[in-house]
Amino acid sequence: MSIDTIFSTNQQIPEQYLHLTDDEMIAHIRQIKQDMGDDLYIPGHHYQKDEVMQFADSNGDSLKLAQLSSNVNARNIVFCGVHFMAETADILSKPDQKVFLPDMRAGCSMADMADDKQVEEAWYALQTMFGDTILPLTYVNSTAAIKSFVGEHGGATVTSSNAKEMVQWAFKQKDRLLFLPDQHLGRNTAVKLGVRLDEMAVWDPINRRLETDQAPEKIRVILWKGHCSVHENFTISNIEEIRHSHPDMNIIVHPECKYEVVQQADYAGSTKYIIDSLQQAEPGSQWAIGTEMNLVNRLINQHHDKKIISLNPYMCPCLTMNRIDLPHLTWSLDEISKGKGSNQIIVEEKIAANARLALNRMLRIS
Ligand code: 13P
Ligand code: SF4
Repeated sequence: MSIDTIFSTNQQIPEQYLHLTDDEMIAHIRQIKQDMGDDLYIPGHHYQKDEVMQFADSNGDSLKLAQLSSNVNARNIVFCGVHFMAETADILSKPDQKVFLPDMRAGCSMADMADDKQVEEAWYALQTMFGDTILPLTYVNSTAAIKSFVGEHGGATVTSSNAKEMVQWAFKQKDRLLFLPDQHLGRNTAVKLGVRLDEMAVWDPINRRLETDQAPEKIRVILWKGHCSVHENFTISNIEEIRHSHPDMNIIVHPECKYEVVQQADYAGSTKYIIDSLQQAEPGSQWAIGTEMNLVNRLINQHHDKKIISLNPYMCPCLTMNRIDLPHLTWSLDEISKGKGSNQIIVEEKIAANARLALNRMLRIS
């Protein structure tokens, strides 16, 4: 969705909310939460700002938040995360529940790297090349339309917590898989399962071609040419710099980082894996973390007994995750408490039905 469409079709925050003090907003949110009680549920992703996370009823990685979406009873779910997460919550929630995203500009650049027309086109080309031998898998960081395509073709969603199990599952169904939209998570996961780099090819949706110099029969994994614009900023030079300046430091990264970075790191895993690893680490241990900065800063503040730094010293938070802030949360809750509600996320049932198939196939295995 373009910025112009977002501005023209969704409500923007009224000016007055931008002039409230933090104390006023905090008091207001507390009051609304108290008044609405069980009618309101606020899930928060680990990459959200602390000013928002303090109000989350539960926090989690993408897997936990997807699991929770099908299990809560509140009539209003105010999703503190990004658009694809709120869509997932809407798809998995009950018909009488409403899901809101406090700022519609909270998108995900990776999810935007695969649109349904591009995927239809790629699928046609790949079926022509490989026949009916491919199962599609999509990272949950994708639009509802992509999840729907995948569900319709017998595939499933994956998160960074369960990607390995889901790829194993996929290989039991078909000889090949198409992994959307994050080439890095796809490559890092397949390598862990013993797939060689020369058995993977990259589908370039812009130039509409498969990047490989191998014969088609050798290809087992087709990676969509998408990436996370936050995690691509961790580099081999960052790793070399840390190895040189802090030889005893552990390096832990998210699998959305490039293959070379994941290979040279000491550990790699989802946000939950990173949080758990730091929780279990010895006091005095040293850690360089390759993931989003709001989470890294939270870990630094929570673990004063460990030395923790970002793997990239010039790293910024995820700008779209950061769209959800105190003013937007205050405004969103205010509207809901007045019975209006702005920026409700509604996935059309004809898309939601197949997307639900893809999500439920994952949730049954996870
Ligand atoms: P996880 O929380 O599943 O590790 O996902 C990270 C992410 O990039 C969410 O946008
Ligand atoms: Fe998307 Fe990357 Fe931001 Fe996650 S961190 S929401 S994948 S851009």
